[in-house]
Amino acid sequence: MSYHPEANAPHGGELINRVASAAQRELFLTKADFLPRVELDERAVSDLEMIAIGGFSPLTGFMNQADYNRVVTEMRLANNIVWSIPITLSVTPVVADRLEIGNLVRLDNPSGQFIGVLELTEKYAYDKQREAVNVYRTDDPKHPGVQVVYNQGSINLAGDIWLLQRDSHPHFPSYQIDPAAAREMFRNKGWKTIVGFQTRNPIHRAHEYIQKCALETVDGLFLHPLVGATKEDDIAADVRMRCYEILLEHYYPLDRVILAINPAAMRYAGPREAIFHALVRKNYGCTHFIVGRDHAGVGDYYGTYDAQYIFDEFAPEELGIVPMKFEHAFYCTRTKQMATTKTSPSRPEERVHLSGTKVREMLRRGELPPPEFSRPEVAAELTRAMQISPVLV
Ligand code: ADX
Repeated sequence: MSYHPEANAPHGGELINRVASAAQRELFLTKADFLPRVELDERAVSDLEMIAIGGFSPLTGFMNQADYNRVVTEMRLANNIVWSIPITLSVTPVVADRLEIGNLVRLDNPSGQFIGVLELTEKYAYDKQREAVNVYRTDDPKHPGVQVVYNQGSINLAGDIWLLQRDSHPHFPSYQIDPAAAREMFRNKGWKTIVGFQTRNPIHRAHEYIQKCALETVDGLFLHPLVGATKEDDIAADVRMRCYEILLEHYYPLDRVILAINPAAMRYAGPREAIFHALVRKNYGCTHFIVGRDHAGVGDYYGTYDAQYIFDEFAPEELGIVPMKFEHAFYCTRTKQMATTKTSPSRPEERVHLSGTKVREMLRRGELPPPEFSRPEVAAELTRAMQISPVLV
């Protein structure tokens, strides 16, 4: 798909804003002690936030049964708009029984703080195994995304939401750039084409290579590391953000790059999550989105390029964001540069690549990843984090 100006309209056409106005907030606060409460887990908190700031446009709340069913089976909302991941609020039947359709529900964060309101329109049971098989392509309970589905409540609550107020991020306030603000920054910089980059791992040279290859053909690079819930052994967001800060300072053209956090939680749904990640970045104003090897994958559940093939299942204008697909990148010892098999004549033994798991194992043993894989400044930062708190890495 070639770029056209409408390409960076939000998904569904309108950027959703469900952050309560001051007057609404006052009203909700007067009702706070009288409303039934539902306590959200970390993922639901970030979903609430993402819906409210427009990151999940056109969603205005947690999915009803018609949207949920169609998303699970056909990757579309009931109104036909493409959407690949269920955004649901699951509770136990005991909790659901206490709630009445048509009423407001108070949404608390895990520390019991009142953070949002749900206008409850539906409660429905759903088939967890069907969701697992369709969305994650496996019903293996060891898959971290499937595990969450299997452990959550069996009733979904649906309805529009309101976020009580947009608080600053406790750890990364200066990188909290919401979709409307990102769009304005792109406009102010005069960027017409912007490529978004999703990541949950510490930046390595293959990341840097594909980011810069992409940037060669567009106006700006939107680095958008995910800082919501990840699986336990992924490297902590603050360590990853420090690695980005260090690299940006030394190796990136700062007038062409914006670093911002993505508050969403990781699902590890591979191909379906790649579509979802692209649509979210479209809402932030990106026109292009990087999809490399095994995007949003985990273990061996997905083929190396499945997350790229899935884009062919939709017409380009239904997605409205252009995937930039990259082959597996590595350091080539023959040509002495980063490359892929498209650009290097190397034999397999001339390619330096390490998996995330391998890198974590090396760090635990006190070894530095080689400079062909990680820039030394990043390796040093990861080692430092490891020494302070081995559980972080
Ligand atoms: S992900 O779960 O967010 O996809 P990660 O942070 O490792 O994990 O990847 C971020 C992006 O870089 C994804 O698009 C992924 O496909 C891509 N990527 C990671 N490593 C490589 C590599 N060696 N070659 C090509 N693309 C890669």
